[in-house]
Amino acid sequence: KCEVRSGFVEVGEDNFCVPVYYEKFEKAINQFEVRDSDVYIVAHPKTGTTWAQEMIWLIVNNLDYEGAHEDILKRFPVLESAAHIDSEIVDLSQFYGCDYMTYLNNLPEPRCIKTHLHWSLLPEQIRTGSKKPKIISVLRSPEDTCVSFYHHCKLIEGYNGTFDQFCDLFLAGRSCYGPFWKSVLSVWKERHRSNILFIKYSDMKKDLSTVIKKVAKFLGREINDDALQGLVKHLSFESMKKNPAVNFQSVVDMFASVYHKTTAPNVFIRRGIVGGYKSDMTTDQIQKFKAWTKENLYGFDLDVE
Ligand code: A3P
Repeated sequence: KCEVRSGFVEVGEDNFCVPVYYEKFEKAINQFEVRDSDVYIVAHPKTGTTWAQEMIWLIVNNLDYEGAHEDILKRFPVLESAAHIDSEIVDLSQFYGCDYMTYLNNLPEPRCIKTHLHWSLLPEQIRTGSKKPKIISVLRSPEDTCVSFYHHCKLIEGYNGTFDQFCDLFLAGRSCYGPFWKSVLSVWKERHRSNILFIKYSDMKKDLSTVIKKVAKFLGREINDDALQGLVKHLSFESMKKNPAVNFQSVVDMFASVYHKTTAPNVFIRRGIVGGYKSDMTTDQIQKFKAWTKENLYGFDLDVE
């Protein structure tokens, strides 16, 4: 059983770990009416999803910085949010002004939608290819993802175990939206589809302009050099960290008050580097991760460093 918070359950292929309320919404998600004009981001939590979302939303919306003042949770909502949120802590209908699935259905086109789900749990129309929305998947090293997720879970999920215990849960596929590699590979196996693009957190760090151009081309948008410079600046770590539309500070503050025990720094946009795990993990933990990655990626042409 998934163990980070009582309330996660395993479903379907690969014993994928989903939030407890998922089963209530499983049918609605599976039958969700996809549009060819939709843009989806499919990624494991903490891989830089929010960073990529902000980039995608601005590219799709012709750099509408004014519109980008709205909370990213409203501009680029999460497909499975209703399954994730404890309605006693957060009333989604109040935040969205209507029933959540209705909100998703009524988003203005082109709709931007985020999901952490395994490929096998995505809406049927995506899996069968009867609808061909653009799908972008973000990859990040499992070590940095795990460190980031540990802080996230302390902050937002009420996790109160040690980091070492968290690493073991992550490796065992018992953290939410795990097992990590099985989920990443479930999308990677679909990479032959022309409507899927993979981007890497490490490439965004190394050369954000090139990733922006690649994503813009994939989305069929033009971006000139001046606009590109402006977008790079907007997407910088420092700028995103203080931007209330993307830094989730209100969510973090709310959960910090629910889970008083947190000792993690109270920020969502936390460190933002590649290889930070080298100072957070022991040699033993790093070796465990490397061996586990080697085993999981055997026969797959995939490198996320
Ligand atoms: P760290 O915890 O390692 O700092 P997600 O959005 O998928 O939850 O991912 C969150 C991670 O992306 C966090 O990683 C966060 O700091 C990082 N991140 C967010 N915005 C970023 C940016 N503009 N530049 C670099 N990293 C960013």
